[in-house]
Amino acid sequence: MTNLQGKTALVTGAGRGIGQAIALKLAAEGARIVLNDLDEDPVKDTVAQIEARGGQAVPCVGSVSAPAFAEEFVSTAVEAFDGIDIIVNNAGFTWDNVIQKMTDDQWDAILDVHLKAPFRILRAAQPVISAAVKAERAAGLQVPCRKVVNISSLAGVGGNVGQANYASAKAGVEGLTRTVAKEWGRYNITVNAVAYGMIHTRLTAASADGDSTISIQGNDIKIGMNPELLEQMERSIPLGRAGTPEEAAGAVYLLCSPESNYISGQTLVCGGGFMI
Ligand SMILES: NC(=O)c1ccc[n+]([C@@H]2O[C@H](COP(=O)([O-])OP(=O)(O)OC[C@H]3O[C@@H](n4cnc5c(N)ncnc54)[C@H](O)[C@@H]3O)[C@@H](O)[C@H]2O)c1
Repeated sequence: MTNLQGKTALVTGAGRGIGQAIALKLAAEGARIVLNDLDEDPVKDTVAQIEARGGQAVPCVGSVSAPAFAEEFVSTAVEAFDGIDIIVNNAGFTWDNVIQKMTDDQWDAILDVHLKAPFRILRAAQPVISAAVKAERAAGLQVPCRKVVNISSLAGVGGNVGQANYASAKAGVEGLTRTVAKEWGRYNITVNAVAYGMIHTRLTAASADGDSTISIQGNDIKIGMNPELLEQMERSIPLGRAGTPEEAAGAVYLLCSPESNYISGQTLVCGGGFMI
């Protein structure tokens, strides 16, 4: 028997990068996954990978920043798997600029995806979870330990040049984490954050010409890092390298596993020993 057998896990931004690795790991541990991403093809691909390994997953394509998304995400979980046991708020991107050049659009888009979306998803999940806990108590069953993991960043802990929007959003998500941990302890839910250092994904890939962009809802956004800066940053990490998405997913899994049932309101730094 795997550790998460029979659990239902909702993961945002699970089409690629860290979110995909989280979805694959939780599925490998027996969870049924409700899998979101902005982009349809990576969602289909991840669902197919889970099914090919004997797991179960349903897609929920769309932007977590859309006002109606949270309700749709929660009802997809209820319709497909009749409940919610784990929520991982992972979706996001960076849209950097020094503060004097940062536009309101840049600020709002990053606050929306990294902070408002997790808030809305947790708010939409509350009635489902509280009804499930009530029913479990009424039936004399032991209320299982449900889990929330919000994805943060060392930028949220220590700030980072060019990331006033992102660092503020990630610091905000840590406040959200600690608050909901206090509000939801009565439902036997642990709420924690994982703050990553540098993990190898498209966001941190070497980009020699500085021309790598992604398109997020009509905006062309620069991603990737100068290769020399990347090398220098990797050298400053005590383990001497950036992490892999699978290693990043391991930290989330720890906080979803039964071994972490008495850990709540915490931020686990997953950064190869790097400290700010
Ligand atoms: N890679 C790192 O070094 C690093 C460091 C610290 C924190 N993080 C955080 O980890 C999380 C995942 O980042 P990643 O590195 O895997 O990036 P990634 O770009 O590889 O994957 C992010 C996924 O989120 C999706 N996404 C973006 N906006 C979305 C939206 N509005 N709605 C739904 N899906 C959306 C993208 O389509 C993409 O598939 C993010 O929250 C990021 O801030 C990453």
